Amino acid sequence: METTIRILGIETSCDETAAAVVQRNADGSGEILSSVVFSQLEEHAAFGGVVPEIAARAHVEALDGLIEQALSQAEVSLSEVDAIAATSGPGLIGGLIVGLMTGKALAAATDKPLYAINHLEGHALTARLTDGLAFPYLLLLVSGGHTQMLLVRGVGDYQRWGTTIDDALGEAFDKTAKLLGLDYPGGPAVERMALRGDAKRFNLPMPLRGDKRLDFSFSGLKTAVRQTAQTLVPLAEQDVADICASFQHAITATLRERVGRSLDRFNEERVGQAPALVVAGGVAANQQIRLALQDLCRKKGFQFVAPPIALCTDNAVMIAWAAAERMALNFAADGLEVAPRSRWPLDEQSASLIGHGKRGAKA
Ligand code: KG4
Ligand code: ZN
Repeated sequence: METTIRILGIETSCDETAAAVVQRNADGSGEILSSVVFSQLEEHAAFGGVVPEIAARAHVEALDGLIEQALSQAEVSLSEVDAIAATSGPGLIGGLIVGLMTGKALAAATDKPLYAINHLEGHALTARLTDGLAFPYLLLLVSGGHTQMLLVRGVGDYQRWGTTIDDALGEAFDKTAKLLGLDYPGGPAVERMALRGDAKRFNLPMPLRGDKRLDFSFSGLKTAVRQTAQTLVPLAEQDVADICASFQHAITATLRERVGRSLDRFNEERVGQAPALVVAGGVAANQQIRLALQDLCRKKGFQFVAPPIALCTDNAVMIAWAAAERMALNFAADGLEVAPRSRWPLDEQSASLIGHGKRGAKA
């Protein structure tokens, strides 16, 4: 498409309510005209995790105001946008219904096309907006609900190379934190404590080490943490710090080994001329993990792309951008009968693994 397009995006698949206006220029570059995110963290903190009913209600209460805010910050009226994009899966069904119905209503009222976007596609294409990255590239998505290695070959063309066979990585951080009496969400709490700990004190396992598959597993590590903690009860603060440091060390080493195999495959199969690895998801905020992946990429000849944290975690910019990429390629818009899907793998060819995505919550 040779013209400039502007899209209003809506994201409500988990515990962030978000709206954004994104512009795609004729040369393929993009601009974020506005992005507003309302995090429901406080509403869920007391429960130590996301409560679907609370999330759905909070989306209903926040969404209209956020859309107004996104439009006014972008200084764009609803009649000036070219299309409406809403996340329609995967995620918590109550939230998806709220966002997609709102998107449909706006599309119907303004007679604009509607794009029902896969949340994972949003994460997958963000690096093209932030870094103008060319296809193909690898995407490591590590969040509270997903841990996947995807080959991104083009818009709508994804191949899943690996996934978790049990817990998502963010979930492993959250469960470890809970076990040690740390705050939710666990990732930042564990990372903070780890700074004061001795990573060599406990020798925790590296699940699937040496396995030829490109998958991930974290539940064995979680069990090892529990067993280690049980031998030390009552835990002193230094014990907690040492467990956090040892846990983070085991995770980092595991990621180096697991992700390294995907990078090797990319090189061996000569998938692309300019190898690149993109990280996305909340866990990408972890400094030690970032540095380890950066180092791994340097050693294996990959460009390492880490979009700004605000665009790695859930947001509506990525939903609007995914729709812009689709629209630019003349992909068909969705009809108003489109239904939200709590499960929706990006790569429909990949068999779902036991336990994978059982929370179906966030990506
Ligand atoms: O992408 P995200 O904000 O939400 C979804 O899951 O969609 O990711 C949240 C997850 C949580 O499990 C949280 O504990 C984890 O990302 N996380 C971290 C860090 N910051 C957030 N994990 C490790 N280290 C961090 N600094
Ligand atoms: Zn996500």
